[in-house]
Amino acid sequence: MRSEPRAPGWLDFWSRPHRIYVNDRHRRVHYARIADEILALLPRPGARVLDFGCGEALEAHRVAERCGRLFLCEAAEPVRAELERRYADHPRITVIADVADPRVAEESLDLLVVVSVLQYLARAEFEDLLPLFRRKLAPGGVLVLADVLPPATSVVADTANLLRTAARHGFLLAALGGLASLAVGEYARLRRRLGLTRWAPEELLALLRRHGFAAERNPRNLGFDPNRMTFLARRADQPRGVAGAKVQCR
Ligand SMILES: C[S@@+](CC[C@H](N)C(=O)[O-])C[C@H]1O[C@@H](n2cnc3c(N)ncnc32)[C@H](O)[C@@H]1O
Repeated sequence: MRSEPRAPGWLDFWSRPHRIYVNDRHRRVHYARIADEILALLPRPGARVLDFGCGEALEAHRVAERCGRLFLCEAAEPVRAELERRYADHPRITVIADVADPRVAEESLDLLVVVSVLQYLARAEFEDLLPLFRRKLAPGGVLVLADVLPPATSVVADTANLLRTAARHGFLLAALGGLASLAVGEYARLRRRLGLTRWAPEELLALLRRHGFAAERNPRNLGFDPNRMTFLARRADQPRGVAGAKVQCR
């Protein structure tokens, strides 16, 4: 029996070359910042870490230096193929397509980060992942949901934020030039057609509680966008701080 063709969605967008970064410098600055943020979250040397929806993870090797094992989990096939090529010989990086991969042992992860992914997942799709995330977390392990879109963000605030980051990191001209293509390009078209999933903080916290997590909103978001949100969650059946997991999310 032939299955119905699936309508293209966000994963298809991330599986193709895109112009979400205004230039290569923007892309590099972004991934360097994400690597720094993950490093700041490591609970201990030798931690087992999984980066879900890691994208190009350009500085994963820097994170892996301080991990026992770093799983780069990326569902977009061409992006994953490039990660596999880049890290084929790395002793501590394993590239996977799915958190359910048996190489990620149950109750093994000290840190599971999900940065800038929730907006591309339907609510039900994200909810389906939560039992799996919970099973893979070690006692005392921490799930970090970062760059989560709140119910409303303003285009003016988003634009000002991009330009501020660009000015600070030396790609202001490219950012000014890139604004037009961000406004009318494929991302904008898909955003109008598919929308982005947004979460009210109390809604996300309630969902996490229903799935057996004790969660809280972090005072600041990871990454460059202060208008988005970060949440930290632990298994609710574990006392805080087990296995030395201490989240310093500055
Ligand atoms: C904005 S990128 C985030 C990359 C990286 N975490 C970062 O912060 O730069 C969004 C990621 O979400 C992933 N993604 C989108 N839809 C997905 C889906 N349905 N299932 C799993 N991953 C998905 C994409 O493959 C992509 O890597």
